[in-house]
Amino acid sequence: MNDMSAALPPFDENTAEAFSATVAETIDAAAVAIMISVGHRTGLFDVMAGLKPSRSGQIAEAAQLTERYVREWLAVMVTGGIVNYDPETGSYHFPPEHAACLTRGAPLGNFSVAALAIPLVGGVEDRILSCFETGEGTQYGDYPCFHHMMAEDSAQTVVAQLFDIILPLVPELQDRLEQGIDVLDAGCGSGRALVALAARYSASHFTGYDLSKDAIESAKRSASAAGLHNTTFEVRDLTDFDSPNSFDFVTSFDAVHDQKDPQSLLTGLYKSLRQDGVYLMQDIGGSAHLEKNMDFPMASFLYMISCMHCMPVSIGQGGQGLGTMWGWETAEEMLKIAGFSEPERHVLPHDPMNVWFVSRKNG
Ligand SMILES: C[S@@+](CC[C@H](N)C(=O)[O-])C[C@H]1O[C@@H](n2cnc3c(N)ncnc32)[C@H](O)[C@@H]1O
Repeated sequence: MNDMSAALPPFDENTAEAFSATVAETIDAAAVAIMISVGHRTGLFDVMAGLKPSRSGQIAEAAQLTERYVREWLAVMVTGGIVNYDPETGSYHFPPEHAACLTRGAPLGNFSVAALAIPLVGGVEDRILSCFETGEGTQYGDYPCFHHMMAEDSAQTVVAQLFDIILPLVPELQDRLEQGIDVLDAGCGSGRALVALAARYSASHFTGYDLSKDAIESAKRSASAAGLHNTTFEVRDLTDFDSPNSFDFVTSFDAVHDQKDPQSLLTGLYKSLRQDGVYLMQDIGGSAHLEKNMDFPMASFLYMISCMHCMPVSIGQGGQGLGTMWGWETAEEMLKIAGFSEPERHVLPHDPMNVWFVSRKNG
């Protein structure tokens, strides 16, 4: 026996039993989470939201899927407390109060988009295991469907609130956009936010840069489908971004912490602004201190995404791997080092998971 084990408190049987029950519940909840992803991707949630209590065959027919698979999925949904089941009639019902956070366009935001992340990272587990040994990172290409998932997330986290809640964080902005300014979205992904802005403000020009060829192609398709002539989307590594005095308004939505060199990017974005230009940055709003994140919404999920995606993709670019929970304190400090003397920090009531910084270039 060494000194450390000698200092351990006595083993408590009751605590161990209660904890094993907690672990079982955690694994059971994870099983429901992956089937929430299936419910979203098959469209079953959206179909069921429009049905009165129905038998599995009726639900399968309405969703144009096979009954046997739908019935097994329904069993998870029933035991997981998402769908109600009446054994007398053999019918299943998806209550509207549950549909309110699990369907496309749901008023409370669609949580099943977050569930997409579970199978997504499951697919890269073997690669991450070897990263634990070697310290290497991953590439975006290791995560098929990542940009598709982000586009869905962006549509509800950013685009749905863009005009009524987010842009008003910068009071003069909407007038300037009406008059005509140059806008950059750094790490624009599939460009959902930029396309929405470009469609609203035809006198302004909107540029989106992203490392991912697939995401940029998707953004170009969306802009073209919307008939826009005021957008430029380009594949570009923003690590050493150097385009001084080029833009009046710069945005980044959830696109700084997983960069190779976030500080270098922020410094480049500061320089890219013209005098009186504004940088609007959305990122994850957790704290840089683990102990302060114990009650942060979905903290375990965010640290998991960090370990399985955000940190390794940064390391994979040769970067430092700040991680998803780099913390608003780190972000604020980096904005100041970049040159923004007084970044304003906002947390929006509808979205406690994110932080929004408004930073101005003046002086
Ligand atoms: C979490 S995603 C956010 C995408 C988009 N802003 C959205 O909200 O959907 C982060 C984005 O940063 C991009 N990115 C990462 N490193 C980059 C780099 N060095 N240069 C340019 N873009 C990069 C990724 O390709 C990815 O699209």
